[in-house]
Amino acid sequence: MQVGIDQIGLFTPDKYVDMVDLANARKQDPNKFLVGIGQREMSVADITQDAVSMGINATLKFIDKIDKNKVGLLIFGTESSIDQSKSASLFVKTALKLKPEVRTFEVKEACFGLTAALMMARDFVRVHPEQTAIVIGSDIARYGVNTAGEVTQGAGSVAMLIKADPSILALNNGHSAYSEDINDFWRPNYSRTALVDGKYSTQVYLDFFKKTYTDYKKQKGLKTSDFDAITYHLPFTKMGMKANNIAIEGQDQATMIKLERSFAAAKQLSSRVGNIYTASLYMSLLSLLENGELPAGSLIGLFSYGSGAMAEFYSGKLVEGYEKQIDPTADQAMLDRRKKLTVKQYEDVFNTALLDPEDGLELTSDDEVGTWYFAGTKDHIRQYRVKE
Ligand code: HMG
Repeated sequence: MQVGIDQIGLFTPDKYVDMVDLANARKQDPNKFLVGIGQREMSVADITQDAVSMGINATLKFIDKIDKNKVGLLIFGTESSIDQSKSASLFVKTALKLKPEVRTFEVKEACFGLTAALMMARDFVRVHPEQTAIVIGSDIARYGVNTAGEVTQGAGSVAMLIKADPSILALNNGHSAYSEDINDFWRPNYSRTALVDGKYSTQVYLDFFKKTYTDYKKQKGLKTSDFDAITYHLPFTKMGMKANNIAIEGQDQATMIKLERSFAAAKQLSSRVGNIYTASLYMSLLSLLENGELPAGSLIGLFSYGSGAMAEFYSGKLVEGYEKQIDPTADQAMLDRRKKLTVKQYEDVFNTALLDPEDGLELTSDDEVGTWYFAGTKDHIRQYRVKE
C-alpha cells in the first residue's frame, strides 16, 4: 500500500514588502537581497494573522474536497506557538468542524516540525489505512527590524492531507536522519524574535545536507542522476541553491540541467513569500509541482532542516494525474492580490504584531486573502473569527 500526500494548500497573508525597497531603506545594494540572498518579496503578517489563523486558512484550500469523517489525526507543527499548553491544532479542529474522536496535538523542532508531523501521519495511515491525517505547518519568521536576518523573514502556512493511495506524492519507505545539539538559531520564551548565529547556521545546514543526502543514496542504492528533482527547506532561496550545487557537483550535463531546472521551479513561491519555517520545504514542493512540468513517476528528493538541529532526507514519487490536484493560478492570484507596504508601513505592522492586544479588545481584520483571523483575547482566551 502506498501512503503519501493527497492534498496540499498554501496560505500567506495579504501584505508584503518588496526587497528592493527594503534594500534601499537599509542602505544595501538591492542585488545583495535579490541575488546574494535570492529573495524578491517577503510576506508580512499583521496582528490578525497568527500561526492558528494561517493554518486554518491553508487547510480551507482543500477541506471541502475531503471526507472529514475519515480524518483520524491532526498534527500542527509550529515554532510560532500561541500558547505554552494548549495545542494550536485544537483551534483548527474546531474551525474545520472535525469530529471529536480525532487525535490532535502540536509538535516542535524548529523548521523540522512539519516533517515530523508528516512522518507520524504516514505511519498512522499505514496502521489505519481507512483513516486520513491532516498535517499543518504554520509560522511567522521574525528576526526584527534592521537585523541581518530581516531579509529572510516571511509568513505563511502549508496544510496537507495524508492518505492511502494518495493523489499527489507517494512517499517511499526509508529516510536518513541526523541531529546534533547546537545553537545556530533559537527563540527563548521571553522573545518574540529569533536569535541566530547566521553564518554558522548556513554552514550547519549544508553540512547536514551532505550527511543525510549521502547516507540516503547509499541506503537506497540511488545516484544523483536518479532524482528528477530535489526540494529543500528554503530559509532563503540562495541557501537551497548552495545545497543543490553540492548535489549536482561533478554530475553529467543532463543531470545538472535537470536538477537546476527543477530547483528554479521549486524556488518560485519562496522567493515571493520568504521563510515560513516549518512549511518552507513543502512550499518548495508545491512550487515545483506548479512550475516544474514533471511527468508522473518522477522521483523527488526532500531535504528538511530544523535548527537546533535536526535534518532528514527522504523521497517520493509523483502520482499519475497529480496535476489535477494543483491550482497554480489560484496561488499566483493569492500572491498578486497582496498589498505592497512601504518599509515604514511594514515596520509599524511588524512592531504592532509583536505586542499582545489588550485583553477584551476586539480586533478587526483588513486581510483580503484570509477567511479566518485572530480577533484578540477575551478573558485571556484567544478568539478566532471568520471575516464577514
Ligand atoms: P549577511 O551578513 O547580511 O549577508 O547575512 P552576507 O554578507 O553573507 O551576504 C549574503 C550573500 O550576498 C553573500 O553570498 C554575498 O556575497 C552576497 P554568499 O557568499 O552567501 O554566496 N552579496 C551580493 N550578491 C550580489 N550583489 C551584491 C552582493 N552583496 C553581497 N551587491 C544571513 C546573511 C543569511 C546569514 C542572514 O540573513 C541571516 O542570519 N538569516 C537568518 C538565518 C538563516 O536563514 N539561516 C539559514 C540556515 S538555518 C535554517 O535554515 C533554519 C531556519 O529556517 C530556522 C528554523 O529551523 O526554524 C533559519
